[in-house]
Amino acid sequence: MDMEVTAWMSLHHAMNAQDDRRPFSKATLRRIAAFARPHRRPLYAFLLLSVVMAVLAVATPVLAGRVVNAIVDRSATSTVVGLAVLIAGLAVAEGGLGLANRWLSARIGEGLILDLRTAVFDHVQRMPVAFFTRTRTGALVSRLNNDVIGAQRAFSDTLSGVVSNLVTLLLTFAVMVGISWQVTLLALLLLPVFVLPARRMGTRLAGLEREAARHDAAMSTQMTERFSAPGATLVKLFGRPDRESAEFAARARRVRDIGVRTAMVQHVFITALTMVSALALALVYGLGGWLSLRGHLDAGAVVALALLLTRLYAPLTALASARVEVMSALVSFERVFEVLDLRPLVAEKPEPRAVPDGPVAVEFDGVTFAYPAADKVSLASLEEVATLDTRGGVDVLHEVSFRAEPGQMVALVGSSGAGKSTIAQLLPRLYDADSGTVRLGGVDVRDLSFASIRATLGMVTQDGHLFHESIRDNLLLARPEATEDELWDVLRRARLDALIEGLPDGLDTIVGERGYRLSGGERQRLTIARLLLARQRVVILDEATAHLDSTSEAAVQEALAEALDGRTAVVIAHRLSTVRAADLILVVEEGRIVERGTHDELLAAGGRYADLYETQFDTRPPLEPVG
Ligand SMILES: Nc1ncnc2c1ncn2[C@@H]1O[C@H](COP(=O)(O)OP(=O)(O)OP(=O)(O)O)[C@@H](O)[C@H]1O
Ligand SMILES: [Mg+2]
Repeated sequence: MDMEVTAWMSLHHAMNAQDDRRPFSKATLRRIAAFARPHRRPLYAFLLLSVVMAVLAVATPVLAGRVVNAIVDRSATSTVVGLAVLIAGLAVAEGGLGLANRWLSARIGEGLILDLRTAVFDHVQRMPVAFFTRTRTGALVSRLNNDVIGAQRAFSDTLSGVVSNLVTLLLTFAVMVGISWQVTLLALLLLPVFVLPARRMGTRLAGLEREAARHDAAMSTQMTERFSAPGATLVKLFGRPDRESAEFAARARRVRDIGVRTAMVQHVFITALTMVSALALALVYGLGGWLSLRGHLDAGAVVALALLLTRLYAPLTALASARVEVMSALVSFERVFEVLDLRPLVAEKPEPRAVPDGPVAVEFDGVTFAYPAADKVSLASLEEVATLDTRGGVDVLHEVSFRAEPGQMVALVGSSGAGKSTIAQLLPRLYDADSGTVRLGGVDVRDLSFASIRATLGMVTQDGHLFHESIRDNLLLARPEATEDELWDVLRRARLDALIEGLPDGLDTIVGERGYRLSGGERQRLTIARLLLARQRVVILDEATAHLDSTSEAAVQEALAEALDGRTAVVIAHRLSTVRAADLILVVEEGRIVERGTHDELLAAGGRYADLYETQFDTRPPLEPVG
């Protein structure tokens, strides 16, 4: 009995050899359990079936032994036939149960993928802009795909394997000991020969797989960045395509080498295993036969032992590598949880308010802001750096205060990098101020619901992004229920109707990656059309006219004037015509408002605005379209 315990202990030890290195907390396991909870019914059914199947697997060799004994004892034909029918019945049952079991495990596994994927997508979508400015898209997408699938493997493959193999192993072992402990003991002598290399192999394979996963993620990052229209343009203009290709090829080659190595290591292992179990089988026949000849064992017992032995080593193999699989599955879970645990820096209050009805004032009250440090918004593994920068950025805005009365237009001017776009981004809460308050309709934006902010505030950003979809879909983003007439109306007002009527697919034209199939000015006018469609009460234009020639500018100015009518507007403009019309001009330099007033007041003051006006703005009279 002692020997049994020792054998069992050594196997158990083999399975838990990495215990000391296990980085997994009870909390992680509890969270996994929480994710598994909705699937607990199929899970129980699955475990139960696994046990039943393990029992069936042990029953067949025992029955085969009975058949041999019946033959040796010259028993009645009916006994032999009865046993044969029973064996046939068991085989059919085993097949049917196997089918049901696979269905259950697939359902649990795929269900888990669904849960994790939707949870991660939902969460990532709510992350603040700062997160996306830092994260590498490729790494994030790989997290959504590879790690979610890795985590799922823990359930459908590994867990099922461990349970049914453990049960099979214990039952087989118990039955074998019951038949002949001497033979069982001898067969098990070969166990260490087998378990030790299995452990080594498992660790080795896991290392290789981790390396391959790293290369895969790096390749997918390279592809997502280089294979976008702007990325590809940059590579064409400045990049070194040969070097890019060489880098990619080096990674791809390493993945190939790892693939070959993995296949070979696995094959060597399986060959060794087959040999070891063949040797053990020979031992069973030898010792069992010898005992049988001496009358200590009947012939059926020898056959049953031999058959059981072949069923002993398969679960052993699986269990030896299960440890590594469980580990890597747990790593995947942790990598998924890591993303789910990122607390969005900008979050909605539990009971958010809505912007009051009526015209809306915009107010900045002593706002100071620095772009957040990397460790506050991001994950080292998603930025593909070893450790995250913990340094907070320097203050980009200092004590910014101003007020745009309902219906007023406030213009922000100043040098590049002064902080104009940053001011604009605080209003829709793309970022939150570090101190001071930003108010919309008299309410602190941090108390407002995101839905209410979206409904109240429209923004045309400096880069005027479009999705790789049709013109229609890009417009409908602003107001999904808009009618065809409304779409054409805003296109007309953005002076895009003629262009789009001329396109073969009209509104259904796909604008291309980031709108790259349109010209810069067209893209910008489309974002203005989108803004017009949304009809929000407050609009922010970040250099919305920068791309336009004088003729289109005049046209768009008219459209904007119409759109801005009765609305509160914050306009960041480099064009004189817009700035002049503003009720209030704020001159921003190095994050501070250094001057404020109307165009005439500021010109008369002869300060920074007057300088800017001379150097940055065209001081010659604006070109009138020649009629
Ligand atoms: N996501 C960011 N993370 C860290 N720093 C940033 C980020 N975006 C901008 N900055 C920095 O903040 C400062 C203000 O940038 P901002 O974009 O507000 O300038 P701007 O006045 O809009 O300039 P421009 O006229 O060139 O658009 C700059 O020094 C810039 O480098
Ligand atoms: Mg800017």
